[in-house]
Amino acid sequence: MTDRSVVAVTGASSGIGQATALAFAAAGWNVACGARRLDRLEEVVDRARSTGAVALSEKLDVTAPDSVSSFFEAVLATFGRLDAVVCNAGTAVPGTIAALEASDILRVIETNLVGSALCAQAAVRHFLRTETPGDVVFVSSDSVEKPFPSMVPYVASKAGLEHLAVGLRAELMGTGIRVSTVRLGPTLTEFGTDWDMDAAVELMRMWKRHAVMPSRAVLDVEAPALAIVGIVSAPRGTEYRLVSIGPTTVDEAEEPERGEA
Ligand SMILES: NC(=O)c1ccc[n+]([C@@H]2O[C@H](COP(=O)([O-])OP(=O)(O)OC[C@H]3O[C@@H](n4cnc5c(N)ncnc54)[C@H](OP(=O)(O)O)[C@@H]3O)[C@@H](O)[C@H]2O)c1
Repeated sequence: MTDRSVVAVTGASSGIGQATALAFAAAGWNVACGARRLDRLEEVVDRARSTGAVALSEKLDVTAPDSVSSFFEAVLATFGRLDAVVCNAGTAVPGTIAALEASDILRVIETNLVGSALCAQAAVRHFLRTETPGDVVFVSSDSVEKPFPSMVPYVASKAGLEHLAVGLRAELMGTGIRVSTVRLGPTLTEFGTDWDMDAAVELMRMWKRHAVMPSRAVLDVEAPALAIVGIVSAPRGTEYRLVSIGPTTVDEAEEPERGEA
């Protein structure tokens, strides 16, 4: 069994998950990276290994219970221990409830909410079996604070995720296992780059009409990554339950209108 603590990061093939895996490696952890794009995961683990970490890339589809089981079996077979899981894998499909395909609604809820529940379950079962005072971290979104029309399944999945965290924490009372939620503002990643352009334009129009347009400022991926490492590294006896992270506020009045830049 490795002496270093081990973290499993879902959705580690890009964006916040990738940055989080690398931040843990830089902080002296061994890392297990899961996602569907194995080629991208390999690049991440190569970078993690260059910091001295032992790193595993393992295919993971969080919406498939068998894939989740295989992933965590591989983690334990490789490292012999697991100390933290970051349930980060997520997706969104823009569109109104009336316009979305049923398959899109299912994919968003199954990835963000069901997938996170399955990964948390696998980790918690291991923590309980081995009496590990482990950490479960969920990656949520500040979209839960406003209605965000044209993103309703996404927002509902993240709101559900935050309630999953609250209920799970209650279930785990007295075990030493900590449950944290990181609620993120807009962050510069590949998120949304695969969206249908017409649907994305309609989404912006709706957000403007409902006055829920996010700030023009965005976070770098290092911000949530370092925050998550900090949350998990907090001294025992301390639990960061809900950490809301956004870019420093800018004076939007001084910014050019969207589309005028
Ligand atoms: N970017 C933002 O502005 C923002 C704001 C608030 C919250 N968030 C949240 O941050 C998390 C990470 O998003 P990101 O911004 O870093 O976007 P991203 O670069 O698109 O990363 C999404 C990650 O999720 C993985 N993923 C998607 N479906 C999956 C599945 N079924 N099984 C396993 N992995 C899956 C993707 O990997 P594969 O495609 O290789 O499977 C990818 O690694 C998401 O939960 C998102 O909701 C993002």
